[in-house]
Amino acid sequence: MGKLFVADHPLVKHKMTFLRSKFTDVHMFRELMQELSMLLAYEATREIPVEETFCETPLVKTKASMISGQLIALIPVLRAGLGMVEGLLRLMPMSKVGHIGLFRDHETLRPIQYYCKLPENISSMDVFILDPMLATGGSVAKAIDILKNAGAKRIRFLCIVSCPEGIACLQKAHPDVSIYTCVVDERLNEQGYILPGLGDAGDRLYGTK
Ligand code: PRP
Ligand code: URA
Repeated sequence: MGKLFVADHPLVKHKMTFLRSKFTDVHMFRELMQELSMLLAYEATREIPVEETFCETPLVKTKASMISGQLIALIPVLRAGLGMVEGLLRLMPMSKVGHIGLFRDHETLRPIQYYCKLPENISSMDVFILDPMLATGGSVAKAIDILKNAGAKRIRFLCIVSCPEGIACLQKAHPDVSIYTCVVDERLNEQGYILPGLGDAGDRLYGTK
């Protein structure tokens, strides 16, 4: 079974308060999402491989380590996952970025796919799916289906807000995938929104409502 990591850190709790608030404007919402994504990435990248190398300090030549960015794939789920990409790219600028476009049908809450472009050698990469919201779990389960069909093997999922229903759905559909989340909220409402949540992440990132 993949692990469930819930960030339990004062910085995350502080930033979550402002991210949730309906008084936070679009600009600040985007900043906070990038910052929270970076804090999550610190834990989610703990086990990625490093290569041994050398480095010359002003005094001596010494052994050192490097991440092979060529072997990291960041896969935002459009739209809202785009809000997390920049934070991870700041930490790992050599990463490849693929995109999966999904939206939830408002009636059925099932994900509808409209786009997919993945890095070529995804089967040899460490894959990080980015989507701030894990609600019913349908969207990320579908994204993982798509990635596994393309050959991806080592997949981790990073989200900002999750809920028990989404975690259970994802762990059942893809028990091998580890979940990294800033917070596990109480539940879903009748419309499939997370409570207390933060509303519609895509709309808040891009000011579309
Ligand atoms: C949101 C969110 C997830 C999905 C989560 O996207 O970004 O992809 O809902 O819900 P689920 O766990 O119930 O599948 P949405 O469908 O609103 O599309 P958008 O980002 O284009 O607005
Ligand atoms: N998608 C969102 O953007 N917010 C939710 O609360 C649930 C799904």
